[in-house]
Amino acid sequence: MEELERLTVGRVAELAGVTVRTLHHYDRIGLVRPSARTAGGYRAYAAGDVERLREVLAYRRLGFGLREIAALVDDPATDAVAHLRRLRGLLLDQRDRAAAMVTAIDRELEARAMGVRTTPEEQLKVFGAELYDTIGSAYPATRRTEPRIAARIWEALGDARTVLNVGAGTGSYEPRDRDVTAVEPSAVMRAQRPAGAAPCVAASAENLPFEDRSFDAAMAVSTVHHWPDPVAGLREMRRVARRVVVFTYDASTTGWLERFWLTRDYLPEFGELLADWPSLADLTRAIGGRAEPVLVPWDCTDGFFEAHWRRPEAYLDEQVRRAVSVWTRVGAEAERRAVEGLRDDLASGCWAERNRDLVALDAAELGLRLLVA
Ligand SMILES: C[S@@+](CC[C@H](N)C(=O)[O-])C[C@H]1O[C@@H](n2cnc3c(N)ncnc32)[C@H](O)[C@@H]1O
Repeated sequence: MEELERLTVGRVAELAGVTVRTLHHYDRIGLVRPSARTAGGYRAYAAGDVERLREVLAYRRLGFGLREIAALVDDPATDAVAHLRRLRGLLLDQRDRAAAMVTAIDRELEARAMGVRTTPEEQLKVFGAELYDTIGSAYPATRRTEPRIAARIWEALGDARTVLNVGAGTGSYEPRDRDVTAVEPSAVMRAQRPAGAAPCVAASAENLPFEDRSFDAAMAVSTVHHWPDPVAGLREMRRVARRVVVFTYDASTTGWLERFWLTRDYLPEFGELLADWPSLADLTRAIGGRAEPVLVPWDCTDGFFEAHWRRPEAYLDEQVRRAVSVWTRVGAEAERRAVEGLRDDLASGCWAERNRDLVALDAAELGLRLLVA
């Protein structure tokens, strides 16, 4: 154990498959500093340094620049588990892109073998926007503004002119007709905000870098359950804004068991995630407001977890699942089992039989709530 906790530069280089020169460079620029000493007094890597190096090397392999990596690994809102989850998502994304390129290359080889030349457009497609649209970064591809939910949120903002969007992600639900400031701790998400989106500050909900009452309103959409301390974050929103609007989920009842077939019949592990989530009463108390139910339209365009309640085939799509953290959080084994079970039941007609009442519904109550204060 002792040895594991203090590794020499040479040993770390050997284990990680990088040069000592690289490690020295990381040390010089402050990216990964060996913080321990060997018995002989030489600088050595402690367990925490190795963990940080592992994150740095993984982001490096994904193509991030060193400056960008420094911002990612220094982000106080992201712990080791959050880094691992994010890395996993990014790697899956990269794997999907590579798989799509292999398929495109196979097609071209086949075509050439049959004497058919692909057009210049076809050859370039695999590197361009079209590929990005189909298998690109999961989040922007499936998480869009749902206009009916947006209308509820914007109405709740009232006549607010200045709006703070906390946990803003790629900017869904940011009203275009108001003066918006976004707050987003994740560099990966910030990097995916479209050109022309509202200015975005790198910060966390729990510690908003603004004076009291700086904004007319603060909003938070599908983000509260990602915060390490939701109640502290909501109090911060309350502090910096006169009005608070939060779109979130009622985790306080066991309603998820009965109301959504996906968690009831395929993914009961969802219940374990809820155990850590604060109750709706705690959340509303933190902002001093009320909670209103938000029904999910059957053709909801924002691909959050419940969005496809009447389109069950969508959950078989890896890309749909990757844009929703629940699937990553329950673990690969539960995900595989749930997807296989659903696939079988769809093929056998069992799903349709069990959920035949849903066909008549245009919107469903699945525990989503708008908190307004
Ligand atoms: C599911 S996304 C929602 C993004 C956006 N609001 C939307 O509706 O598309 C959750 C977001 O919460 C952010 N987040 C995680 N922890 C946070 C924290 N402590 N404070 C603020 N945002 C946080 C994540 O980085 C992520 O962008």
